[in-house]
Amino acid sequence: MRPRFITFEGIDGAGKSTHVPWVADRLRARGIDVVTTREPGGAALSERLRELILHEKMPFDTEALLIFAARLVHLQGVVRPALAAERWVLCDRFTDSTYAYQGGGRGMPAERIAILEAWTHGNLQPDRTYLFDLPADEAERRRGAVRPADRFEMEDLGFFERVRAAYLDRCRNDPRRFLLIDGRQSIDDIHALLDEDIATICSTKD
Ligand code: ADP
Ligand code: TYD
Repeated sequence: MRPRFITFEGIDGAGKSTHVPWVADRLRARGIDVVTTREPGGAALSERLRELILHEKMPFDTEALLIFAARLVHLQGVVRPALAAERWVLCDRFTDSTYAYQGGGRGMPAERIAILEAWTHGNLQPDRTYLFDLPADEAERRRGAVRPADRFEMEDLGFFERVRAAYLDRCRNDPRRFLLIDGRQSIDDIHALLDEDIATICSTKD
């Protein structure tokens, strides 16, 4: 079976990190070799850039450029080698996050993000993207319970509403790649949906 590149997206607190290890376990139970990783980060230099991106105040354009700089290292050092070795890659956030946060949230034109995307990984796109969708106020309640806020998580509800809208827009424009998951469902119901989707992916020959 061809190795798959699967990404997990959604606003902070929507449930991505809860489900990445679970999907990895389900795939391993099917005998699939899986690598889990995240962005920004996932490789040594990218993790150092992540610290800056999440905690250092900077111009919005610098933020976007650093995110793609970190992405390039992560792709070259981790994602591409894994796929080349027939391993599946599960990534907590990828370029859809940039369209949603830097585009929808910060107001950067999508055309500009598209130029950086083409430069960094024009020939590599996720095979499948799980979008965890949750109203911004509910996501804020959930993440408030578990961790201190980084630079993005300190943004107001309006920011997260714009991020959410940008995600939903991308999902509507690429319904084959995205699976939209209503994050208000129970974790068990989401597991059932994911299980069904994994079964479909694993039975697809291409
Ligand atoms: P993200 O990685 O998208 O920021 P998390 O997976 O860390 O979000 O989830 C944020 C919080 O919400 C965690 O405490 C998690 O246990 C909880 N959570 C995740 N999914 C659900 C769900 N479907 N229903 C209720 N709580 C959830
Ligand atoms: P994340 O790892 O989901 O945070 P946490 O560890 O708190 O769950 O993501 C870190 C933040 O980076 C998140 O608020 C969104 C932001 N981000 C962007 O703004 N653009 C991007 O392209 C990526 C990958 C992340």
